[in-house]
Amino acid sequence: MEPETDRVLIFDTTLRDGEQSPGISLNASEKLEIAQQLARLGVDVIEAGFPITSPGDFEAVQGIARTVEGPVIAALARTHAADVEAAWGAIQDAERPRIHTFISTSDIHIVHQLQTTREDVLGQARAAVALARSHTEDVEFSPMDATRSEVEFTAEVVAVAIAEGASTINIPDTVGYTMPHEFEAWLRRLYELVPALRDVTLSVHCHDDLGLAVANSFAGILAGARQVECAINGLGERAGNASLEEIVMLLATRSADIGLRTGVHTHELARTSRLVSRLTGYVVQPNKAIVGRNAFAHESGIHQDGVLKERTTYEIMDARSVGLEANSIVLGKHSGRHALRQALEELGFDVSGQVLNTAFKRFKEIADRKKVVTAMDLEALLTDELREEEVAGYVLESYAVHASSAEPPHASVAVRLPGGELGRGEFSGDGPIDSVFRAINAATGVDAALREFRVGAVTEGQDALGEVSVVIETAGHSAAGQGVAPDIIEAAARAYVRALSIARRRAERPHDSLTRIAGELASTP
Ligand code: KIV
Ligand code: ZN
Repeated sequence: MEPETDRVLIFDTTLRDGEQSPGISLNASEKLEIAQQLARLGVDVIEAGFPITSPGDFEAVQGIARTVEGPVIAALARTHAADVEAAWGAIQDAERPRIHTFISTSDIHIVHQLQTTREDVLGQARAAVALARSHTEDVEFSPMDATRSEVEFTAEVVAVAIAEGASTINIPDTVGYTMPHEFEAWLRRLYELVPALRDVTLSVHCHDDLGLAVANSFAGILAGARQVECAINGLGERAGNASLEEIVMLLATRSADIGLRTGVHTHELARTSRLVSRLTGYVVQPNKAIVGRNAFAHESGIHQDGVLKERTTYEIMDARSVGLEANSIVLGKHSGRHALRQALEELGFDVSGQVLNTAFKRFKEIADRKKVVTAMDLEALLTDELREEEVAGYVLESYAVHASSAEPPHASVAVRLPGGELGRGEFSGDGPIDSVFRAINAATGVDAALREFRVGAVTEGQDALGEVSVVIETAGHSAAGQGVAPDIIEAAARAYVRALSIARRRAERPHDSLTRIAGELASTP
């Protein structure tokens, strides 16, 4: 990819580094749905996964490579030949495939994790880039833990990678340790040590352990980086990666001063954030910059007064520019299937057949209890419905809770089990939600424990749809689930049942995770 001087490429790693966030496990169709939305958002590169880690990830990356048009589709690979071949196998059908290979250059990693020598690292980097280059011209190389590495040694490895044909050099702050001024100086020194770096795209990949991922990425841009690796909602290992929406809106809002641009369609940001949040079960904190519920809310009287007189008194961005006004579509209880389908199409969902039938049934249930159904409601509902289709496993058929002031609440539920039979369970617990969750445990025969529970509302107002996220743990597997419904208990029950299905899938496919290769990381190819 030819670097344009005023254009910053956005490399989205939500589906790779983001998917490494604890508790997240997306199946192939969820990943595809996110990838399609990322393409709609206008990112330049989608890092779709790490194909060697599991057959499930290989298939998911392959599905994205074969379907998603527009962005470059990248796959991650260690320097092992088998990794590079797996990455290529998964992405070779993409319109624009990229192999992204990496190896650590810090002595901490070389000595303790890889248990090898600098010389060997240099050789592995050379061989991996050469092998990747035999498959495609678009090869990215990352010296992992670069910011804790000696810049002179990293420069040697980077020079070799460029000589072998890498077209992007990505500098990761793997453990989120660096500081903006230090990172900028480090990169400027790298440019001095490797003149050929000017002929390729310099990229940065920053983690947020000290809350500096966006600041460090921006420092990288100031030093000359023209690709930023980031993730929606800042997802990623541990504290996460640089948040895509923050980087993009920083460059857009301060473009007059920075003079750089991205190709992102910013009005798709809020929607992408909501989709990723729903499918991963990772709730966006209300005060999260750009996409948080309160990012454009004014509480103090002075601020409200100012904004009413002139929006720019207290707002540096227009909420509409990130798509936060997405409530234009309104349906009511008399709207028919055709109107629903049209509204969903406007929102970018192309649904038909069984999904449309179920969505229509649930729309009617909601429209009976809610005066108007907005675009945000439909989006929440549909994401919820699609998830129901995809997370095959347990399905909540019915629930009822009887509460009186004299006795603890009593819940009875019916859950369709994976084999098709109906499981029934009852429980009297500490509260209605506790009773429902334990009744679901009884119905499914799964002994799950609730680890996290969050309640939110899709829109404002007393009749808003409730949205519940849970994280459960069962037999050593944690799993997140979300549910949407007019009734908060129903939303909670749906979220819990979904989390159980995901945990079940994990237990059935224990190799669908990075842990499979963790033990091998020390070995050399
Ligand atoms: O954080 C990191 O170093 C990575 C690399 C694989 C780029 O994710
Ligand atoms: Zn990373």
